Amino acid sequence: MRHFLRDDDLSPDEQREVLELAARLKADRYAERPLAGPRAVAILLDKPTLRTQLSFAVGVSELGGYPMLVDGRLAQIGVRETVADTARVLGRQVAAVVWRTFDQSRIEEMAAHAGVPVVNALTDQFHPCQVLADLLTLAEHRGGPAGVAGLPGRTLAYLGDGANNMAHSYLLGGATAGLHVRVGTPAERSPRPEIVARAEEIAALTGGSVVVTSSVQEAVAGADAVATDTWVSMGDATAAEEAAALFAPYRLDARVLALAAPGAVVLHCLPAYRGNEVTADVLDGPQSVVFDEAENRLHAQKALLVWLLGRLS
Ligand code: CP
Repeated sequence: MRHFLRDDDLSPDEQREVLELAARLKADRYAERPLAGPRAVAILLDKPTLRTQLSFAVGVSELGGYPMLVDGRLAQIGVRETVADTARVLGRQVAAVVWRTFDQSRIEEMAAHAGVPVVNALTDQFHPCQVLADLLTLAEHRGGPAGVAGLPGRTLAYLGDGANNMAHSYLLGGATAGLHVRVGTPAERSPRPEIVARAEEIAALTGGSVVVTSSVQEAVAGADAVATDTWVSMGDATAAEEAAALFAPYRLDARVLALAAPGAVVLHCLPAYRGNEVTADVLDGPQSVVFDEAENRLHAQKALLVWLLGRLS
């Protein structure tokens, strides 16, 4: 039984396999039907979402299954009953569990008791499905003729809150793909040291590298992709004014993008706040691939589900 709770739950070879399957499913959307029956997949949502519920619901349907969307405000997982009891109930009726929730410990407990594959659809610490989609997007636009196989050696710069879930997932997922991952962030918002250490360990195997810097110039110079994210993530108690003061020097604008490689792509997991973390001319400009990125959530997650459902023993 395999789960996808954080980016490094897939080895480099496994991540490549999932991304290559995602590319195939994008070209032939109904090629895989492992949920035919239909078998249900529970999609539990404790936080706001558009893209995640849409892409998982469409994806499960296209795989022949039934997406059971559960509003976390109704289910109150961990309040009405324990996460473990919820997991045992779900595991008797669904083929897989997808969960957007708060602390990583909750989804770890779900995985320990569900008896079916569990997928992290965002926690406070990680957003690994988003990074799978970002890697597919990067492969399409900067992988060259090799596509996914062209990812190793590419450079991805991330600007903004280095302590949020996207930064952590870029570090782990990017290193797994053999990317040079550079995080540009204020020192007081650096990624968690154990995540940086784990990313460095993975990068040593894949030929990638990891840089965490407070210098925008150092982060972005020559990069193949420049990513950013909202200054205040869901559940982050930082006041908007405080975040603006902290992260304004890391705003992705045309001057910053010009530091990247010619033809570099702009990534943002969305929703975006034009004028805050990214200027409108960049987000809506010719180098932006954010709507390919949003679409690729669908293809990447379908591939992940097919892969997990094929490894049930
Ligand atoms: N990028 C992302 O996860 O979007 P939603 O929050 O809308 O699901």
